[in-house]
Amino acid sequence: MGFFTKDIKSLNDLFMHGLQDLYYAENQIMKALPGMIEKATDVQLRAGFEKHLAETEGQVHRLREVFELLEAEPKGDKCPAIDGILREGRDLMSEIDDEDVMNVGLVAAAQAVEHYEITRYGALIAWATELGRTDLVPMFKANLAEEKATDQKLTQMAERRVNPRAEKTDKPSKPKSTARRKAPKTAAPVKAKRSAKKARRRA
Ligand SMILES: [Fe+2]
Ligand SMILES: [Fe+2]
Repeated sequence: MGFFTKDIKSLNDLFMHGLQDLYYAENQIMKALPGMIEKATDVQLRAGFEKHLAETEGQVHRLREVFELLEAEPKGDKCPAIDGILREGRDLMSEIDDEDVMNVGLVAAAQAVEHYEITRYGALIAWATELGRTDLVPMFKANLAEEKATDQKLTQMAERRVNPRAEKTDKPSKPKSTARRKAPKTAAPVKAKRSAKKARRRA
């Protein structure tokens, strides 16, 4: 089922699609978090991921309660948005060796997940309310509160720069060229000409 097929005919269908989407997403996030915990070396970040893994298990449980109230079987619907966000996170992790850079990358990847969840829970709350199913709203609101709190903690971590050394690690090429430009005019003019020729030839 997808947004561009005609399976979604009413707001109720849209709501069910959104719920199944999010149920799928929370389950995928639950599977992805252990890998992120393993990669995180920053103590606070690691602890934050561990806490959010436990919260995510609780969130899945709350969504199951929603299905129960709807007298429907808990069912996930493959969501390409969360698949893409998680795949990008995995790709990023495989590209980074430096631990400090990894922590910074993990914060950004995790925030992309939280922002996704925040928008989806916001929509489900609005739709459930419109459909007169206010009995479902407390479960969504409880999950949303945890996503928002996690996002705020990640923002704080990003602001204090999990990695103050990250900037210094990829600078070697820039200072070299700056140093060459700033060298006194009297210093080895012949050499300078030669290297300029070489540079032209290389180009
Ligand atoms: Fe979640
Ligand atoms: Fe989350």
